[in-house]
Amino acid sequence: MIYRLGGEGEGTDPAMRVLGINAIFHDPAAALVVDGQVVAAAEEERFSRRKHGKRPVPFSAWELPELSAAWCLSSAGVDVDSLDAVAYSFDPGLCRDAADLGLADPWDWLRVDYARRAPQFLAAALPGLDPEKVRFVPHHVAHAASAGLAAPPAGDDTAVLVLDGRGEVASHLAGVYRDGELSPLYSQELPHSLGLLYEDLTRHLGFLHSSDEYKVMALASYGRPKHLGLLRELVRVTDAGGFHVDRIDWASLAKAAEPGAELTEDHADLAASVQARLEEVVLDLARWLYDASGGASTLAMAGGVALNCVANARLAADGPYRDVWVQPAAGDSGTALGAALHVAGALGDRATPMSGADLGRGWSVEELEAELRRAALPYFRPDSIAAEAARVLADNGIVAWYQGRSEYGPRALGHRSLLAHPGDPATTARMNDVKGREQFRPIAPMVRAERFADIFDGVFPSRYMLFVHRVKPEWRDRIPAVTHVDGTARVQTVHTDTEPLVAELLAEFERLTGLPVVVNTSLNTAGRPMVDTPREAMELFGSAPVELLALGPFAVRRGALGGGR
Ligand SMILES: [Fe+2]
Repeated sequence: MIYRLGGEGEGTDPAMRVLGINAIFHDPAAALVVDGQVVAAAEEERFSRRKHGKRPVPFSAWELPELSAAWCLSSAGVDVDSLDAVAYSFDPGLCRDAADLGLADPWDWLRVDYARRAPQFLAAALPGLDPEKVRFVPHHVAHAASAGLAAPPAGDDTAVLVLDGRGEVASHLAGVYRDGELSPLYSQELPHSLGLLYEDLTRHLGFLHSSDEYKVMALASYGRPKHLGLLRELVRVTDAGGFHVDRIDWASLAKAAEPGAELTEDHADLAASVQARLEEVVLDLARWLYDASGGASTLAMAGGVALNCVANARLAADGPYRDVWVQPAAGDSGTALGAALHVAGALGDRATPMSGADLGRGWSVEELEAELRRAALPYFRPDSIAAEAARVLADNGIVAWYQGRSEYGPRALGHRSLLAHPGDPATTARMNDVKGREQFRPIAPMVRAERFADIFDGVFPSRYMLFVHRVKPEWRDRIPAVTHVDGTARVQTVHTDTEPLVAELLAEFERLTGLPVVVNTSLNTAGRPMVDTPREAMELFGSAPVELLALGPFAVRRGALGGGR
């Protein structure tokens, strides 16, 4: 594997090394920060091949990211015993009795008990680790750091808003970063939680909570916010910068849906209503924070609710901030990175902003070729893999695009992507079939930064696909596959300085078709985590109707395999 650091083991290297761990609630993950810079970060699911690391069912509330942690260390050539600290993104010392917090979970103390023993568990999982090196970081401080310390420099203070399901005792944190230091301004205590509100709705609509919330967001575009008046009474913003969520009788608004059942207009209307109220509340909280922070020009966001790209777009459009930046791993996996940056800061290292989400595993060209040989696949090396892929896409073929290091966070951003033609209206159904997704779900476009403003309105740049944009009316019929029912698209802007290969592919596709965008979805099939290794990429290629596998500079064509089409 590539991207090793040099100079390890010499005994004189002053680099400060902090391993970040998220092992509680959702999406176990590990991250390694060296001298204030994130050098590796990965979700455990990419190694264990269990989506989100574990199922969101009772008593599966924790999992140590053993494999991802071991990879972070080995890829950077860092020995366990040379770590300065391990940052754990939950502080059991802050916890209170669940009944006290208004939570109906008689077993909550089990999670707290587990977290208290985390140093010993970690020492067992990472032989050689001194348990004394483990530092507990409050969950929402870890989320806040993943946004406020990882965002591009703002030039002044950075306001930070964490919108989550839950942490130790709270669900939200509003604060401001000054010179790398967080000043908390308000934190909303449980049981009031925007994340848990959205999770409850997700469950009521027959989806998997803590996993399928983005499906609810997609469904909302098909409905009308009929219940907005009632939700304004039940979900209220307080003068202190927080909010209250009263009990909601979901069944009185729409019948509970069984998993996999057909969803009705009632369900879409309910989703639209909650989504609309969420957007209003997020906007109010962000405005309060703007005033309380003394008018910071940049807002950085994290927490699971910050993956709601419709709410993010509204906040960017209607809120007071010049820039809104959202951590690409805004869910709990990002707390591994945030906890590590926070502790590195406490140890005196200034954080370096993230330059991209490609922080996971990568393979050298030689390693990729060896994998292809081992699998006995008939591959070739075209002059340009980008041009080769563009030709297949222009012929309406699907491309499995595997390049560089894998992405940290839930979005494929041109490293582990499944690409397709945006001009064919049938592409959406075809891609959703390949991926076993519901047909109401949109697929998203990537566009070269230079061409963005010709086709879309909205937040720019949008490197991490965390905002929705309006497709200009004259383009809607030309790129129907990526235009959602409400005329929007969740755009990734591709910048030549950071993603030259994808930019080349887009330019070549436009030369062939006149269309400056390509469909981009994650490289996985139904229910599986994103492809991470070359072998998984080849397995996907072998089991899905994909015309081209672009594995680094190498190409494997479906036709060359013989049999089938
Ligand atoms: Fe969280």
